[in-house]
Amino acid sequence: MSNNARFSAKKGNSNLASLVRHLSDSVYQDGTTIGKTMNITRGAVWKGIKKLQKYGIKIYSIKGKGYALAEPLILLDKKLIRKQVIHKSVILDIFESIGSTNDYLKNYFSFNKVRVCAVEHQAHGRGRFNRSWHSPFGQNIYLSCLYPFQKDLSELAGLSLVVSLAVIKTLKAYNLPAGLGVKWPNDVTYQAKKLAGCLIDVQAEANGTCSAIIGIGLNVNMLHDEKNEITQPWTSLRAILGAYVDRNLLCAALINNIVDYLQQFEKHSLSIFLAEWQQFDALYSRKVVLEINNNKLCGKAKGINEQGHLLIQLENGATQIFSSGDISLD
Ligand code: BTN
Repeated sequence: MSNNARFSAKKGNSNLASLVRHLSDSVYQDGTTIGKTMNITRGAVWKGIKKLQKYGIKIYSIKGKGYALAEPLILLDKKLIRKQVIHKSVILDIFESIGSTNDYLKNYFSFNKVRVCAVEHQAHGRGRFNRSWHSPFGQNIYLSCLYPFQKDLSELAGLSLVVSLAVIKTLKAYNLPAGLGVKWPNDVTYQAKKLAGCLIDVQAEANGTCSAIIGIGLNVNMLHDEKNEITQPWTSLRAILGAYVDRNLLCAALINNIVDYLQQFEKHSLSIFLAEWQQFDALYSRKVVLEINNNKLCGKAKGINEQGHLLIQLENGATQIFSSGDISLD
């Protein structure tokens, strides 16, 4: 195991989560009272407050009155998530801050166990095409699932599509107004704005099987991108619903759906998901631009084939099949 993993594994979030539970976004609480109820010193409360502020959490402080959160905040709670996860053999790591949940799980490649890592903050969250993934503390879901497949690496075509459908299934429970869609190969969008993305790292094992690390970034409570780090149109569940969302239930539901969908994919391959993809295909019959190997191709998206490859009807009328590329609406 790398030093990074050993170091990060110590960084549980239970103390901070407990402090956040004792703070409120409407009533000021004084440090001494918080300390007494938490059985820690006033100095330790102050240290925790400073840490949260360092992570970018806005906390008002008034002399003689105490502290109040500027916005609602509920941190991830491992016990609560654990209770709601129906796949009891899944190993669960919840950390306060880590470089990247995908990179962390690489230390467990070849372990042959399903392992999930979810964190409050990623210092080096990674997106596709070497982009970075904005991962502000306590706002969204940054989660990776290491899944050992009894399949050869060559049989994983379509995996990213299945993962986005698992995200869609999770979001459907929130009864969003119409507009939820999948954008090939693995974005989840809401009215053409990105809500979630997925990054997959794979490793072939010596016995002909393989393992995949499936990383999901889902925008949950983020309302602003203060440093303008996000380069594409985006939205969040809170922005759509107009209400703060508890990430614990969402996180557990996401784990349940991902593991369910991966088990189905392992048994039946992509074919059983094609109808579901069609139902949510945000690109179907839309004019699109595909960027591939520094070239731009324009055409009309025509859905996917059995392997999960994208069909585009080019301007000359011919339909071409693409297995990779960065696609946007024209
Ligand atoms: C993309 O749409 O570009 C993929 C974004 C994937 C982001 C997630 S957040 C959890 C996991 N850890 C990472 O470093 N990246 C993925």
